[in-house]
Amino acid sequence: MSQYNHKKYTPIVTVDKQDRRWPNKTIDHAPAWCSVDLRDGNQALIDPMTPPQKLEMFEMLVAVGFKQIEVGFPAASQTDFDFVRKLITENRIPDDVTIQVLTQARKELIERTYESLVGAKKAIVHVYNSTSTVQREQVFKRSKEEIKQIAIDGATWVKEGAAKQSDTHWQFQYSPESFTGTEIDYAVEVCDAVIDVWQPTPENKAIINLPATVEVAMPNVYADQIEWFCDNVRQRDAIIVSLHTHNDRGCGVAASELGVLAGADRVEGTLLGNGERTGNMDIVTMGMNLYSAGVDPELNFSIMDRIINVVEKCTQLKVHPRHPYAGELVFAAFSGSHQDAINKCLALYQEGGTWEVAYLPVDPRDLGRNYQEVIRINSQSGKGGVAYVLEQEHGIKMPRWLQVDFSPIVQAQAEVTEAEVSPQDIATLFHSTYLEANSSMKLNGYQVSRSEGMDHFEAEFIHNGNEVALKGEGRGVLEAFIAALSQYLAKQLVIIEYNEHTLGHNDGSEAIAYVQVSIDSKRVCGAGKSRDILGATLSAILNAVAKAI
Ligand code: KIV
Ligand code: ZN
Repeated sequence: MSQYNHKKYTPIVTVDKQDRRWPNKTIDHAPAWCSVDLRDGNQALIDPMTPPQKLEMFEMLVAVGFKQIEVGFPAASQTDFDFVRKLITENRIPDDVTIQVLTQARKELIERTYESLVGAKKAIVHVYNSTSTVQREQVFKRSKEEIKQIAIDGATWVKEGAAKQSDTHWQFQYSPESFTGTEIDYAVEVCDAVIDVWQPTPENKAIINLPATVEVAMPNVYADQIEWFCDNVRQRDAIIVSLHTHNDRGCGVAASELGVLAGADRVEGTLLGNGERTGNMDIVTMGMNLYSAGVDPELNFSIMDRIINVVEKCTQLKVHPRHPYAGELVFAAFSGSHQDAINKCLALYQEGGTWEVAYLPVDPRDLGRNYQEVIRINSQSGKGGVAYVLEQEHGIKMPRWLQVDFSPIVQAQAEVTEAEVSPQDIATLFHSTYLEANSSMKLNGYQVSRSEGMDHFEAEFIHNGNEVALKGEGRGVLEAFIAALSQYLAKQLVIIEYNEHTLGHNDGSEAIAYVQVSIDSKRVCGAGKSRDILGATLSAILNAVAKAI
């Protein structure tokens, strides 16, 4: 048998459920969030966080708005123990934030955990033991009764420890580790036994946290397990059902979302998904999924640059450029059709209304990004993108006929360099293509006069260094100028397109004009800038003509 053989894996075990209700629900409010960056996230790092890094992470989590933060595993790590002490003794925990600490269900570890918490105003003590079939049978080699007893003992020691430090307001949390690999009725039996010890009330609830320690099934299976659990657990009104999903199959966020539909009240995870193996479920993604569906996530992700900076520093892991909501490229559009669509939708959005922008599920500005970053130009890009960049960065509002002319020139440049073309490159290309072609032709000065309904144009014209007198007449100054040039060059010139605008909002702002001229039936475009519109237009015509001949 070849090594690569799917038959060595067992099919997913589903929950036998006929009364499934979660598929018909929606999420209309945020769950209670608990960040486990400083514990689960930290435990997964090649180099665990240093004390200053932990502090920086803690302060950033508070700034994001977390009200529950698992700050470590103090009985297992001296660094974590010292960190918990530091937070408490230096009074660094805001009144509306509760710290949480993890401990195994062992007496000496629980005692040490309470030592770390002396003086805390409030805290969550989180005790866990593994309950899954694999762990019971292969790792611990204990019966179901023996494993349940570990949970009961742990719960008892947690309760006793709390009673000895009655100045602190305690909340208890229990996790049947590897819940998703545990027979569902047995998971309920163990949790019921813990609840019996703690005797929570609706006023002082216990937290029962149901981890997908390893994600082994599709998210709908997890949702079924959560709904079944909520329907069958004892004292449902006195417990907070919490989720803790990992991302082994890439569905950690989906599993938590469906778990909330299935009745959970609380979600544990990390910012940007750091954690064991493929990571914990990513609270940024789940929170922003809520936000972009019009639900207040009760977390502030507008400080995304700070979040990324601190997470990257503390985990020494780079955020992927395509990470939902946070990656460098997630608001970039390279393709021409996407750019056109985004441009049109943004223009309409700026007139007011809700966010309905094609290809952008969320407004980049909400996450501290800007529209300029959205349109990126490479060989796939179209005219809309190029126009957007020139307008945003340089105030150049190309008319559509000029966009059509310019876009292939930018694409050709991208193909030659095989790279993205920066906004500065685009501006340089625009200048060399349309604004700087007329060095061979120059007007030294001109006069316009009017008689008998006709305009007369006279100019001192320099062509290839020679001074020439230009003369022409027509209906309007432009027609007169074109007539003069046509005569001098002995070519038939016709203005096909013409647009102009000022480049700024001040009285003294320069004007820019764009023209498309037909020269002996060949169309060329040019642009010109000047203090006045006529000067800009004449210059644009000369730029176009000089290019053509
Ligand atoms: O993934 C897990 O099961 C855990 C528990 C300790 C909650 O991190
Ligand atoms: Zn975990």
